[in-house]
Amino acid sequence: MKVLLVGGGGREHAIARSLKMSPDCEKLYCAPGNAGIAQLAECVDIGVMEFDKLKDFALEKGIDFAVVAPDDPLYGGLVDVFEEAGIKAFGPNKAAAVLEGSKAFAKDLMRKYGIPTAAYTCYDDAEYALKQLELAKYPLVIKADGLALGKGVIICMNYDDAKDAVKEIMQDKKFGDAGRRIVVEEYMTGREVSVLTFTDGKTIRIMSSAQDHKRAGDWDTGLNTGGMGTFSPSPFYTPEINDWCLEHIFKPTVEAMNSEGRPFKGVIFFGLMLTEDGPRVLEYNARFGDPEAQVVLPRMKNDLLEVMLACREGTLDKIDLEFEDNAAVCVVLASRGYPLQYDKGKEIKGLERFEGDESHFCFHAGTKFADGKVVSNGGRVLGITAKGSTLKEARKEAYEATTWVEFENKYLRSDIGRAIDEA
Ligand code: AMP
Ligand code: GLY
Repeated sequence: MKVLLVGGGGREHAIARSLKMSPDCEKLYCAPGNAGIAQLAECVDIGVMEFDKLKDFALEKGIDFAVVAPDDPLYGGLVDVFEEAGIKAFGPNKAAAVLEGSKAFAKDLMRKYGIPTAAYTCYDDAEYALKQLELAKYPLVIKADGLALGKGVIICMNYDDAKDAVKEIMQDKKFGDAGRRIVVEEYMTGREVSVLTFTDGKTIRIMSSAQDHKRAGDWDTGLNTGGMGTFSPSPFYTPEINDWCLEHIFKPTVEAMNSEGRPFKGVIFFGLMLTEDGPRVLEYNARFGDPEAQVVLPRMKNDLLEVMLACREGTLDKIDLEFEDNAAVCVVLASRGYPLQYDKGKEIKGLERFEGDESHFCFHAGTKFADGKVVSNGGRVLGITAKGSTLKEARKEAYEATTWVEFENKYLRSDIGRAIDEA
């Protein structure tokens, strides 16, 4: 099969690696890809939102299967564009991707179908929201309704914080249209866990769990980022919790989407909080997480292409997922200053050390070729993943491997997986 992968970050590098291992993947293209993906796939310089160009490219090359990985093109309807052109595609269509694309939709869905989540109210009028917030109980959480790269979530300790949040999101429009509406949520506490699942709209298959580290600084300080590191599995996500979530959260979500006439095919990523009162949904994503994919996929034994095709064809009931009985840790190497201001174009040295290594991986997030060299090209530059027989061993190996590569202004958190010590 000829496969086209859409995306160009660390998640897509991990997906490309797994797709490439499938015996059915004869040829892999990636748009736009990056310097790491270019070792596995033929990269083509088309942006993820250039739908017409992507469709024309896929038709010209005779692509059999297109895999859409990032949220923006999913929410924008790229899967619909491919399918309407007769190209099979992996991922939810536009109607289903709203599960991630609108937090208000997701919250209303959960309320309607009794799926456990934080209590909330939606507002589309800033003045009215401010009046209500004056009387509210704190802390609480204010979220921009739309896609904001995981950054449109503000935890407010008091009314002053809430005023700032409303100003930033609704009045200054820091996240553009995504902030036309806000969701105000009850503040919950507990451990967070990311659970990625495949679904064909009928059957759900659960991948091994993971935990992300969203803040830029050690000890969860600093700004929210796309994710600074992950580990898998989460020792706090027990088989009993998994069974409970399957019955009360995962199956009801897939059924709710069917009832709403928005059948979901693809990956549903459940962002959960394990509260004292039981697991609650923090958010839904309609795709693999980044950098969750970088710790989950290297541990998956299945043929990823086969699983993705089964999601599209509605035959996921024929497949059981299998994971290695080990652990993985990913430490993101970012450019100092991320997520605000940072340099690009810095030469990266030491990448060859990872070649042929089957337990240490260097997933490229923001890299490109310049004058025959690999240079940084984003805030998150690389994701260094290591596998180990235990989480502690994987963490030790991952941190060791972060020293193999160097680039100017390399920045990493030193406490990825610190929760492992509390398990
Ligand atoms: P989200 O993008 O909705 O997952 O939010 C980003 C992060 O904000 C989450 O990973 C949590 O750490 C935090 N968060 C979101 N919603 C809540 C909530 N209701 N209570 C406490 N923390 C939250
Ligand atoms: N790592 C969180 C996300 O991909 O949204």
